[in-house]
Amino acid sequence: MSQLEPTAIPGPASQREAVSAQAFREVMCQLASGVTIITASLGDVPVGMTATAVCSVSAKPPMLFISLTAGSRTALGVEERKTFAVHLLPHTRQKYAEQFAAAGDHFADIGYRRDPATGVPILEDVLGYFLCEVERSVVVADHALFVGRVMQCAVKATGQTPLVYFDRAYGKVTPVAELHPVNPEHWAFDIGLPGWGVPT
Ligand SMILES: Cc1cc2nc3c(=O)[nH]c(=O)nc-3n(C[C@H](O)[C@H](O)[C@H](O)COP(=O)(O)O)c2cc1C
Repeated sequence: MSQLEPTAIPGPASQREAVSAQAFREVMCQLASGVTIITASLGDVPVGMTATAVCSVSAKPPMLFISLTAGSRTALGVEERKTFAVHLLPHTRQKYAEQFAAAGDHFADIGYRRDPATGVPILEDVLGYFLCEVERSVVVADHALFVGRVMQCAVKATGQTPLVYFDRAYGKVTPVAELHPVNPEHWAFDIGLPGWGVPT
């Protein structure tokens, strides 16, 4: 893949399979996702975006997968330098998510350092990060998919809840045990099993 040009995908074999983009999005927004910031370097300029399309691929060797809009500056940076970093956000960093998804300078007032070997920006105040080298890439429709081999990773904070994105809104995770402190078997309340206490 030398250029990140969108590729044409043939239509479905039958009309029965046709699903509109709107219908697809309506269901997809019911998938709760952890929010990340993906960073790279484009002509030595730091680039980065808010992304939820991140997935573990394998632990041996450690690999993960990201999906970026093909024309985005971040995708172009990943394609150019074949390296990128994925940062996991705590719920206290919603500002990062908003800033890296908006127009303007994504790095304004954000603390970061450049990885000395690759130039990839490594952000401060995150739950953890992965620094990756591109192992495989392919353009599908209008997205560039990159499989990255993890060259470095670290947990930077523990005991903080992650920032999540669900139904087009930011939120944070509340452990079920906190919602139902009397009885950890929370499902028992919903189906009315006898002998279980009332949730507080
Ligand atoms: C919650 C959230 C998740 C997003 N996830 C992705 C994603 O996984 N892939 C993607 O290409 N864009 C995603 N975006 C959109 C990009 O963050 C946005 O287009 C960004 O401005 C692109 O920056 P760039 O063109 O400077 O690279 C997401 C936006 C939000 C608000």
